[in-house]
Amino acid sequence: MTKAQGEQTVEALAARHRRGFTLEQPFYNDPAIFARDLEQIVSRQWLLVDHASRLGKAGDWVTFAVAGESIVLVRGRDGEIRGFFNVCRHRGSRICLTEEGNSRTLTCPYHAWVWNLEGQLQLARGMAADFDRDAWPLHACQVRVWHGLIFVNLAAEGDPEVLPFETLAADCEPYLAREDLGRTRIAARIAYPTHANWKLVLENFQECHHCAPSHPEYTAVHSYVTEEPRDPAGWWERHQSWQGARRAAGLHAEIAAPYDADPRQPHGGWYAPIRPGIDTLSRDGKPLAPLLGSHTAFDGVDTGICLGQFGFAHVCNDHAVLFRFTPRRVDLTDVELIWLVHEDAVEGRDYDRDRLTWLWDITTIEDTKIINDNQAGVNSSRYAPGPYVPAEAYAQAFIDWYVDRIGGQPPQARAATPPARDFRGNVVAAE
Ligand code: FES
Ligand SMILES: [Fe+2]
Repeated sequence: MTKAQGEQTVEALAARHRRGFTLEQPFYNDPAIFARDLEQIVSRQWLLVDHASRLGKAGDWVTFAVAGESIVLVRGRDGEIRGFFNVCRHRGSRICLTEEGNSRTLTCPYHAWVWNLEGQLQLARGMAADFDRDAWPLHACQVRVWHGLIFVNLAAEGDPEVLPFETLAADCEPYLAREDLGRTRIAARIAYPTHANWKLVLENFQECHHCAPSHPEYTAVHSYVTEEPRDPAGWWERHQSWQGARRAAGLHAEIAAPYDADPRQPHGGWYAPIRPGIDTLSRDGKPLAPLLGSHTAFDGVDTGICLGQFGFAHVCNDHAVLFRFTPRRVDLTDVELIWLVHEDAVEGRDYDRDRLTWLWDITTIEDTKIINDNQAGVNSSRYAPGPYVPAEAYAQAFIDWYVDRIGGQPPQARAATPPARDFRGNVVAAE
């Protein structure tokens, strides 16, 4: 398929997409559409990449590959974390060849040109003494560090299709205000390569209609999985009264539906009480690690935060889990989970790694299997778009958002007054 044919196909497919239904097959398995996804969507999002504690001291660096690029994140001598395209300014070699390291300079392995940690060329081996080294810095990549979370954006500065990072941070701030993730460190990170298109991975992540049949452990821990479908109206009433009690205690309690936010990068947050008498997302309900931030006691709340389509967080009183989704190929998505605990917590004394990772590890292993099976079925000659149920409202909203973005719809201004929505993202009442 030529690029022109591919573009026509994408636009034609987007135009005939039926709201409320899954995508047509090529969106899930056509490499030409995947290439468009990378260019039009992934390359313009703030991507949650890592936690700043991984770059503890000057000279620490990590590489992150996405959308055909490799980015080097490095902590400079001034303590700043910067990002550079991992491309030599001499003849284009990769500079950092492994996943992480520590070095005094960034030195290209090919002909040994040398940049400092701030990306300025220090030594251009073989060039005349009057060569203007200042004119050949490494290509900078946009980086933001917020509450210790490192985001990168591949787009050029000032791209109007990119949401200003300050908007994302301001809107999500209330959901992270109490945990102080800037003072945590990485206790575990596990990769779950998933053999499916990134949209199948993210549809799955954004609905819990599959939780009861697919996640016995999550269902046993989180009461809403079974309580909400059994009695949606009663559950929502109880949730609203719980929200009211939180507000009365001076705490933030709102649901900010990600797809009511600026469509350049959906984002938002919500709170869920886990189960009466439960402290955190552990097998026995007991604490997993020392309390985070300003917490002085457990309140049994699971805070969900959508930081864009490729990065989410679930935060409990004593730990946080970051979810990083990276499209690799049309049928391969890297899913990586990062568990954070208080920066002073010591493994073996303050937390047990297996207890800490138990719920999201087993749940993500289960997700990998159901998503792989989903892709296998979608590849069939008999696959056709199927209808979402109301409990899959966020998966549907994600797909509608995707179709608008890939179909070339200009970003709409956000609604001045978003409608009230329930926990699943369904409109519950007019404002
Ligand atoms: S390509 Fe990097 S020094 Fe030559
Ligand atoms: Fe799941």
